[in-house]
Amino acid sequence: KETLEIRAFLLEWYDLNQRDLPWRRISSSNEGKGDNDEEGSERRAYAVWVSEVMLQQTRVQAVIGYFNRWMQKWPTLGHLARASIEEVNEMWAGLGYYRRARYLLEGAKKIVEEGEFPKTVSSLRKVPGIGDYTAGAIASIAFKEAVPVVDGNVVRVVARLKAISANPKSTIKNFWKLSGQLVDPSRPGDFNQALMELGATVCTPLSPSCSLCPVSAHCRALSLATQESSAQVTDY
Ligand code: ADE
Repeated sequence: KETLEIRAFLLEWYDLNQRDLPWRRISSSNEGKGDNDEEGSERRAYAVWVSEVMLQQTRVQAVIGYFNRWMQKWPTLGHLARASIEEVNEMWAGLGYYRRARYLLEGAKKIVEEGEFPKTVSSLRKVPGIGDYTAGAIASIAFKEAVPVVDGNVVRVVARLKAISANPKSTIKNFWKLSGQLVDPSRPGDFNQALMELGATVCTPLSPSCSLCPVSAHCRALSLATQESSAQVTDY
């Protein structure tokens, strides 16, 4: 019952408060056609992939420009697969960690060669450069697989909800497990983004805005008054 309420409150909050980001527009741009059509979900998967890789090292505001320029130059995976590494590196200039850009290109080539966008976490994990985080993001946001996505924000939110320490590195597996139990099976992509967004905007490392939090009634850290100290570790 608690899990059901957390899901419902979080999704309702996300529907009202989500930021208008360009990669989210791609997910709604084919609403008229129904959002389960193959072409639409692959277009979304590509956009989610590019945006999530960029977001792994850079803040949302800085990513927007890079993302828009990238999608203008290579609007589909097929376009990207025909790019050269020099073009890709040039487009990436300023984002850092060029290996990630190279993996995007290599992954695009591999997927185009194989002819079909992988749609599950296990098949996505086989693409070079796609790890648990990116695989979970693509599978849940673009293909509605009910899998968790855990980044530093999610660790902090879940750590506070359950009043557990986010400290030891060995517990990251535990956060994947807990988030997997929490994820909403009917709207996994929105649920995962809601958790990340809550961590980025409300459940912040210092001075979290608990009065604005949709799940404060279910937050053990808040009820124990440990929200300030329980989850300051973002380097998980
Ligand atoms: N940070 C990284 N990816 C994100 C997403 N999809 N939504 C919100 N914050 C994010």
